[in-house]
This record gives sequence, C-alpha cells and structure tokens, in this order.
Amino acid sequence: MSDTLTRVLDRVRAAHPESVQRLCDFLRIPSISADPAHNAQTAQAGAWCVEQLRSAGLNAQLMPTAGHPMVVATHEGPPGWDGPRILYYGHYDVQPPDPLHLWTSPPFEPTIVDGPKGKRVVARGAVDDKGQVMTFIEAFRAWRDVHGTLPCPVTVLLEGEEESGSASLEPFLKAHAKMLAADVCVVSDTGMWDIDTPAVTTMLRGLVYVEITVHGPSRDLHSGMYGGAVPNPCNVLASIIAQLHDANRVVQIPGFYDDVREVSAPVKAQWSSLQFPESEFLGDIGLKSGFGEKGRSTLERTWSRPTCDVNGMWGGYTGAGAKTVIASHASAKLSCRLVADQEPAKVLAGIRAFVEARLPDGCTYELAEFGAAPAFSVRDDNPFLGATQRALKGVFGRDAALIGSGGSIPAVGAIRTHTGADALLVGFGLDDDCVHSPNEKFELRCLLNGTLSHAAMLHEFGLMRR
Ligand code: BES
Ligand code: MN
Ligand code: MN
Repeated sequence: MSDTLTRVLDRVRAAHPESVQRLCDFLRIPSISADPAHNAQTAQAGAWCVEQLRSAGLNAQLMPTAGHPMVVATHEGPPGWDGPRILYYGHYDVQPPDPLHLWTSPPFEPTIVDGPKGKRVVARGAVDDKGQVMTFIEAFRAWRDVHGTLPCPVTVLLEGEEESGSASLEPFLKAHAKMLAADVCVVSDTGMWDIDTPAVTTMLRGLVYVEITVHGPSRDLHSGMYGGAVPNPCNVLASIIAQLHDANRVVQIPGFYDDVREVSAPVKAQWSSLQFPESEFLGDIGLKSGFGEKGRSTLERTWSRPTCDVNGMWGGYTGAGAKTVIASHASAKLSCRLVADQEPAKVLAGIRAFVEARLPDGCTYELAEFGAAPAFSVRDDNPFLGATQRALKGVFGRDAALIGSGGSIPAVGAIRTHTGADALLVGFGLDDDCVHSPNEKFELRCLLNGTLSHAAMLHEFGLMRR
C-alpha cells in the first residue's frame, strides 16, 4: 500500500474517538423531516453538516429549497487536477422515532453500548444515514489533515427530505445540474454483506406508495340496527386487501408482472455463490421459515421480486373494550416495491383498477399518492466499480460482495437523470441495525471501516484520469 494512503488510514484510526464524538453531536439533533414541528431542528442538522464540511476543508453552504435546505459542498482537489469529480450523496434527516416506549435509551441521546460485535452507538439515524454520511466526511477530514488537500475533486449533496419523499430534490437537481455535474455519484446509505465483508449494491428496488380510503354509509352506525344490511367499509377494505395476493403469494394487481425482468443467469449464479445465511436472517427477527412468492428464495424475494405490502390500516373503533359500530370509512397505507422494468405509473393505474373492480355498490374510494420511483440498477460498465473494489479489498482483506437490496433510494435515479452521474452504492450498515425501528444502531467498527474505505476509495479515484 502506498505511503500516501497509509498515512491517511493511520490518521483515520487515530481520530476515531473524536469521529465518534462528532457523530454523537450529529445524532443529538432530532432532524425528523416528516414532522413540521421539527423543521427548525432539521435545518439545524443541515447547518451542522455545513460546519463539518467546512472544517474538513471544503467550500460548503446551505441552499434553500421549498422544503428542507440542501447541503452543497465542493473541493477542487490538488491544484490543476484533471481527474474525475466525485459527487457524494447522503441525507441528514431521519425517520420519526416512534414507538418511543420500545427504545432502551432516548432516540436522540446517542448511547454507546457493548454488543456481540463490539461497541455500537444507539440512536435514531445512527446508520440511516448520519453514521454513514460521517464515514465520507471523516475520510475528507483525514485526507485534508495529512496532505492538506483531497486527492481528487469532490462535490457533496446532502438532502434533508429523503425520509419524507424528497419533494425538493428533482427541482433542485434541475436548477443546479451544472453545479452538481460529476463523473460518478458515491452513496453510503445501504448495507454490507456482513461485518467482515464489504459490499457494493448494484440493484435497488423502486417504490409506489398510496393511501386508500373506502367510504360507505354517510355516518357511523349501530351495528345491530344496520349490520348485515349495509356495506361495512372495514370489511370491504379488508376483503380488497385480502385479495391482493393469491395462495402462492403472487400479487393480483392487473398487469403487475408484465414488465418484470428476470435476473440473468450469471447474476443468479453469483447470488447463490454468496451463500445467504437465511436462517440467521430470519432468526434475527424471530422467524423460523420464510414467507413469500412461491418458488423464490428469500434473496430473490427481497432483491429482485416486486411486492405489495400494507404498511398500516385503520377504521372504526380501536379503543378499549367493545363498541358495536359500523364505521363510515376505513383506510390503509399500501406500498409496492418495484423491480426493473416496472413503471410506477402503470402500477398505480393497476392499483386503482384493482380497487375499483372490488368496490361494492354503496361504497366509494379515495386514493392519495405519496411518491413513486422506479427500480435502479448500476450500469455494469461503471469504470469506478473496479477502483472501489480495490479500495475495499485493501481495507477488509477480502473481496466486496456484489449485492442487491430490497430498499429504495429514489434520489440515485433522479441524480442519474439530471446530472448523468451513475451511482456507486457502498454502504456500511448491517441487517440487524434496526433501520427505521426502535433502537437503531451503528457498529463503531462499521464507522471506522467505512471511513477507512472512503479514504482508500478517494485515493483510488485520485489515481484515475479522465
Ligand atoms: N437508506 C434507506 C434505503 C435502504 C434501506 C437501502 C435498507 C438499503 C437497505 C433509505 O433511507 C430509505 O429508508 N428509503 C425508503 C424510501 C423513501 C422513499 C422513504 C425505503 O426504502 O423505504
Ligand atoms: Mn437512508
Ligand atoms: Mn431510511
């Protein structure tokens, strides 16, 4: 390994305790983008990132949008440099922490605790995405501390609305496409294969999210006086939901699978070579066997098959004891994870047709759309992939796994559309990090190895020429 890089990696290791402290400062800011009551704190988290990037030697600013502000930072690399420019994308907002009573420590009071894999920090946003954003900021800082400069030009874009729909992202990308122009977009908002094995995510699923409300009688009714003689919206909605899958767990929305592309044989073979520890994956969440589309493995079900899930449903009486009532309406939040080459608009139309075909006389429905994004695949000729694999191998001493992911990061598709930069998804989360759940955590070993990886990737990118 070159002395240039070794010195940076040593610096990263030496600075690790301070890096942990800085991450804890970040985690103390409750930047819940979905909740307007937290708007000031969300902006504060953006401002905190600007400060961090400035102190790491970048030119950084907070740029307003119609929603939460964007953090934009640049560094020109060594004087007169003519290598590729790297765009780093991440988000400084977090999911709401509820249900609060299930947290073992308050969600915005980061707590370092011992776990089977060493020390970990527990807090909302620990892995998604504050801890991961810090992996590249700390890598910039180490390069600047040791060599006075970054080894290549970089641009940083951090948004504050990723967890609540990214409404301001497209308009911002359109308005500032030139300022954000780069040769590749590096994102750390996904996972590793396991704590010792790094991963590059090559596929993300897309997402269509709706809320359906079924209306029936014009007011809530006594279920003895009216029951059996009128449509009950709770029953009607439950029946519609129950028909979404057949006995083989195949989604019944019309046209749903029309554009679904099967994963190629070589990719399937590469996935089987990963030897996915299915019983561990399921055991961690208290399950003994998988459940899903017949004839598909758990990996296929999460990485390359589309889904339709109810995320919440309500209506009628849900308080203590019994109340004999027929509610006048019932609602459900429903989302579909999409795979290539499903079109979000077509899936949305299919959901409407599915509901309409099953609505009895006397009922009407409303459908609200909460965003839609297609699946994303990294182009397999991405020239930055090799450099990244070399860097990861240098840090972990083993090859990075090429993996898919069931999650969605709509921003990466939008960034490619508007700036032309393909995404390179190198994340440091683990399956048991409790993303979006109570007691979200980030292993300190992942923070350190992630920072070392970004430091090594920067070195590799700095050796590339246009
Ligand atoms: N970082 C996640 C996406 C993710 C999760 C990737 C797990 C890989 C593994 C991101 O912050 C996220 O939560 N995305 C949302 C979509 C968004 C539109 C709210 C998701 O996947 O539900
Ligand atoms: Mn995220
Ligand atoms: Mn998230």
